[in-house]
Amino acid sequence: MTLKAGLFGVGTSLPEYRLGNDHFAARLDTSDEWIVRRTGIRERYRLNGRQTLADLAVEASEAALADAGRRGEDVDHVIVSTITPDRITPGLAPEVALRIGAREAGAVDVNAACAGFIYALDQAAALVESGRASVVLVVGAEALSRITDSGDRGTAVLFGDGAGAVVVAGGELERGCGAFELRSDGTHADLLYAGRDERLLRMEGREVYRHAVARMVEATRTALDRAGLTAGDLDLFVAHQANARIIEAAAAELGVPHERIALNVDRVANTSSASIPLALWQAERDGLLAPGATIGLAAFGAGFVWGAGIVSWKERAYVTA
Ligand code: ACO
Repeated sequence: MTLKAGLFGVGTSLPEYRLGNDHFAARLDTSDEWIVRRTGIRERYRLNGRQTLADLAVEASEAALADAGRRGEDVDHVIVSTITPDRITPGLAPEVALRIGAREAGAVDVNAACAGFIYALDQAAALVESGRASVVLVVGAEALSRITDSGDRGTAVLFGDGAGAVVVAGGELERGCGAFELRSDGTHADLLYAGRDERLLRMEGREVYRHAVARMVEATRTALDRAGLTAGDLDLFVAHQANARIIEAAAAELGVPHERIALNVDRVANTSSASIPLALWQAERDGLLAPGATIGLAAFGAGFVWGAGIVSWKERAYVTA
């Protein structure tokens, strides 16, 4: 069997400050009922000045390494997906590498909005499978509260802060990070963006919704084909947690039954590229993910950029690298 990259540990971190829908109902022309019915969101977490985003990224990374039975010094490459780093430059990755003890590891931030985690995972798998790295830490870390307009009811209620990380390493695996499909279409950049001067997310919600469902379904079908699988082979569908209705609509089109959908948007809201590792962590805790499970990942975000991946979960206890 040839060397394949796989997922071997997951960790997360959420800020201390939790915010329910009532916070918005008291300040904007909205209600808990509207937010829950249209989005599925009940609460979200926010950085409140005491922690940095790097703090969350490091905590999630350390938890992922512990889960994988690894130490920071084993990591030779760190990829952090974020659109909201603590500083414009440097990015988060060098600080994460330093603080976890991955001394002089390669370290890079990627920006592919809500699809960033899938893009980063694909890059990590390519590094491992080409022999350029042995153990890659992939982190999604976002503080969307930094770029959310608190006066815009159409976006203020949607976003949360948080971080999640996975450890990617090589082994003799059946599936590993089996098949990815990554795409973009820059013609729709103005439907979802944050400008350099204003620094606030602006979104045509209904249009984004329509594209998100269609594109995640298309990409998942292509990735499944490439892996020689059908939707019926998926143990779990883990889509970017933007809105429960988007995830449920995409799953229904694909023919994934409700009990095989990961849903935690109710607890953490849309955390952009942190959402998939946060959902993986929650699904494992909820008993939806066992070692060897086949997962369909899908995400869609500003760009537009989107993608899907078919991956196995902690496929073997012992890996080569
Ligand atoms: N409370 C009450 N009413 C609201 C709220 C609110 N918080 N927000 C919008 N409305 C109103 C609108 O103003 C509109 O009123 P009108 O009919 O009088 O004009 C009405 O509700 C319906 O608005 P829609 O936008 O059509 O509502 P929809 O059912 O589409 O839900 C939502 C809006 C939740 C934003 C949805 O469109 C959505 O989830 N879109 C996709 C978001 C997403 O996936 N983003 C992905 C990536 S995010 C990233 O990359 C950072």
